[in-house]
Amino acid sequence: MKAVDKATVVCVVGARPNYMKMAPILRCMTESKASLRPYLVHTGQHYDAAMSGQLFRDLQLPAADVNLNVGSGSHAVQTAEIMRRFEPIIDEQKPACVLVVGDVNSTLACALVAVKAGVAVAHVEAGLRSFDRSMPEEINRLLTDQISDLLFTTEPSAHDNLAREGIPSERIRFVGNVMIDSVLAHRGRAPAPESVLRQAGLAPDPIGTSKGYAVMTLHRPSNVDEPKTLQMLLGVIREVSAILPLVWPVHPRTLRNAEGFGLTHLLSAPGLILLPAQGYLEMLGLMSRATVVLTDSGGVQEETTALSVPCLTLRETTERPVTVEQGTNVIVGRDRRRILSALGEILATGGKRGRSPDLWDGRAAERIVSHLITDLGSDPSAVEAA
Ligand code: UD1
Repeated sequence: MKAVDKATVVCVVGARPNYMKMAPILRCMTESKASLRPYLVHTGQHYDAAMSGQLFRDLQLPAADVNLNVGSGSHAVQTAEIMRRFEPIIDEQKPACVLVVGDVNSTLACALVAVKAGVAVAHVEAGLRSFDRSMPEEINRLLTDQISDLLFTTEPSAHDNLAREGIPSERIRFVGNVMIDSVLAHRGRAPAPESVLRQAGLAPDPIGTSKGYAVMTLHRPSNVDEPKTLQMLLGVIREVSAILPLVWPVHPRTLRNAEGFGLTHLLSAPGLILLPAQGYLEMLGLMSRATVVLTDSGGVQEETTALSVPCLTLRETTERPVTVEQGTNVIVGRDRRRILSALGEILATGGKRGRSPDLWDGRAAERIVSHLITDLGSDPSAVEAA
């Protein structure tokens, strides 16, 4: 193994769901008197102002030390391009550790470069499994965990999954959920839902009624890449919006597909309020007061549990079972009847209020940084030996 600078931790972000996980960790690293020096790499997997720049500002993330500007591409092209452009950073920075978060292509690509260069890998949000290998994120999770030296977990199921896959317990640290650190830190700064609509140039009236409103996010390839599935889901979404005003910040992938499949006529309905992809604070504001959130995102399932807002997950599986067991999440798949009946139940009873899972307390980043200091600070070989 080459000589390492014990102090440097190369921190990787690439796509929207990474920023809210990395922000509290970077803050803790910078504020602690520890000898760790974060070096922030943005792979550029997401590049739009709405998907990246705005979120950096909302989360008060420092500008990245370097942006690899990889942009969009097929999975192979995107992953390969990230690897190619990330390798020189490792050569130049000689870090003690590469810290990756979540399950996007940037997570796996950078972990793979690091491990082959003999640099320790720490994975935040390790061990989550949907057991659905048709999801690109599931492949990214499985492979990243296999090559990580330190695995930080958010919920007990993750430890069980890792143990089953042969990861020694000594490498696993149950630290809680950094995503919730961000929710708790920024909740007070979130704008009211009415002002989010006003900012988007829309009248706030539809959600100002006592009836409440729903919020939706939808972008998983399994939901939006097939014309028939997207068409069917848009039909259900229109039915939901006839029952409850539905605010929908549309992901660029979903919009592009709806246009490409000739389905844009289904995007307009009286109760359907379309917005462009929103900033972090705007999403928090919209979700906090919603009657229900419909989603296929992983992070939104966790955020709604932390906010105690009922969530309907439009997928057959979740890699975050604690949100169902203890939180506000109900898995409804893409079945029209299940979706409408779960919505009816929420309108009748208020839905699940749940409780916040263990260690979703706003201090997960502190625990991560403290483990990094112990495991890397004095002796980087400690990680290799773990
Ligand atoms: C990626 C992640 C997913 C995460 C999601 C959040 C992987 C495998 N998937 O999926 O886990 O939940 O981000 O957004 O890493 N696009 C833009 N502007 C951008 C970025 C993307 O317009 O800033 C468009 C491009 O046309 C692109 C499409 O959106 O082709 C999809 O983006 P991509 O990064 O490939 O995957 P996501 O679906 O965003």
